[in-house]
Amino acid sequence: MIQDKGPWKKYIGKTEKNHRKIFGVDMVMLAEKYGTPLYILFDDIIRENYNKYQESLEIEYKNHLICYAVKANTSYYVLNLLAKLGAGVDVSSEYELELALNAGIPAEKIRANGNCKSDAYLEECIKKGIVISVDPEEELKIINTIAQESGISAKINLRLSGFPVKHITSRAISTSSDWSKFGIDIKRANSVFQKVLDLDMLVPNGLMVHLGSQITDINAYYIVLDNLIHLSKEAQKIGFDINEIDLGGGLGIPYFDEKDWDQIKRKIKNTRNENYSWANEFIGYEYNSELNDLEWIGEELSIEYTPDIFIQKLLNENFSENKTFREKLEEIGSPRFVIEPGRSIVGNAGVTIAKICHVSKTPRGENIIHVDIGVNSHTFGTAVPEQLHKIEIANYIEEGEHFETFVAGNLCFTGDLLCRIKNKLIRKPFRGDYLLFYDTGAYSDFFSSNANSFPRTAKAVVSKDGSHRLMVRREKMSEIFNREVEWDLDNRKD
Ligand SMILES: Cc1ncc(COP(=O)(O)O)c(C=O)c1O
Repeated sequence: MIQDKGPWKKYIGKTEKNHRKIFGVDMVMLAEKYGTPLYILFDDIIRENYNKYQESLEIEYKNHLICYAVKANTSYYVLNLLAKLGAGVDVSSEYELELALNAGIPAEKIRANGNCKSDAYLEECIKKGIVISVDPEEELKIINTIAQESGISAKINLRLSGFPVKHITSRAISTSSDWSKFGIDIKRANSVFQKVLDLDMLVPNGLMVHLGSQITDINAYYIVLDNLIHLSKEAQKIGFDINEIDLGGGLGIPYFDEKDWDQIKRKIKNTRNENYSWANEFIGYEYNSELNDLEWIGEELSIEYTPDIFIQKLLNENFSENKTFREKLEEIGSPRFVIEPGRSIVGNAGVTIAKICHVSKTPRGENIIHVDIGVNSHTFGTAVPEQLHKIEIANYIEEGEHFETFVAGNLCFTGDLLCRIKNKLIRKPFRGDYLLFYDTGAYSDFFSSNANSFPRTAKAVVSKDGSHRLMVRREKMSEIFNREVEWDLDNRKD
């Protein structure tokens, strides 16, 4: 689908050779200079997204902290950029923590998450005074013991889950309802508050929740917030301090405009007639016996809010008892309001470019194009379960006969489809063409690996002034195999 609308419209153009350019930079030139596959990040879009959060919070609620979720795009360059803008971060391992500290994020602006934290990670947080989101409940005693051994008290938020929300996004990225590996059940919250107060090395700091990712319905936030405010009051009654409410991340981005997305969902529902999805699966749908129909239970890939609008609405709209969230925060002493956005900071700040190797047909007769990047380097299963992004041929943008196609990666397994739903190109592609995937700045390399011994993908960064440089190198042969002790001894050349 050509990018003639949506957020990209203002950044894109064409070169004289009919190549896609973004911020004046020829994407094909970048692919040829740095090789494919290639992630391309636009640092000014990251800045713009962060500033939308920052400027609206500055107006709406002064006592706030924006902690970028490092996992969304784990990159020293991105962390450095955000550190200069004054951001904090959410980290989920000692490795992310180390990178964030190296990039200049101050310890007091770091929130430590993770449902399986190592002793070393916890110890480092305690020593640096970093607020730990306790998850699960069993972690309380472990943190207390490590704090005793270190002789330093641990600042903790309780991460909660089990909220009455359903189908707010797809299952794999839903983290706050009654089936979640994360968090402490809200039904246990009152006894856990007391448990914290009984453990002498724990300093209560607040409550935390992360709803899930690609959340598009603001009502889900209201339901969770209502519960959080209620629980905060309960906590305060027994002396558990609420210095902050950490609402996690989760705000979605528009992968499609509403009309296109509705049409895509309709086609999936009708896939038995239209052969629209992989193996004709009703991807994202579930049969609902009450409705006697298929019900959409996946994430929505279209959203009406930008970060600034989201913040304005979240704080200013009445959500229960005729009160706004801001008023409810005031009732519990105006604690710091922490958010941990990832996708909404970097998601629409990146594209991926790959090279087309073959244009063929499945045995069933469907068009399928094969590209030189695998699903492991393209949001596999987590971020956009349908693997659906807007795509276009980047090297010769000339409208011809439209071409509906599946996109397969280069890995040796059938699930390696970069798009399990048919996607549309404005002309037939050929071997050697470049394929551009839009909005791939978040979670593209979350599951990145050396499957089939391919090197992990390089990242380049492009700025508004048209400058560009390599940000992350592609792995060399020696880097792929050097963990093999004998290979290293026998073959290492560099
Ligand atoms: C604890 C926590 N905070 C923040 C985020 C970021 O979420 P998103 O990228 O959807 O904003 C995540 C992502 O899974 C998370 O687990």
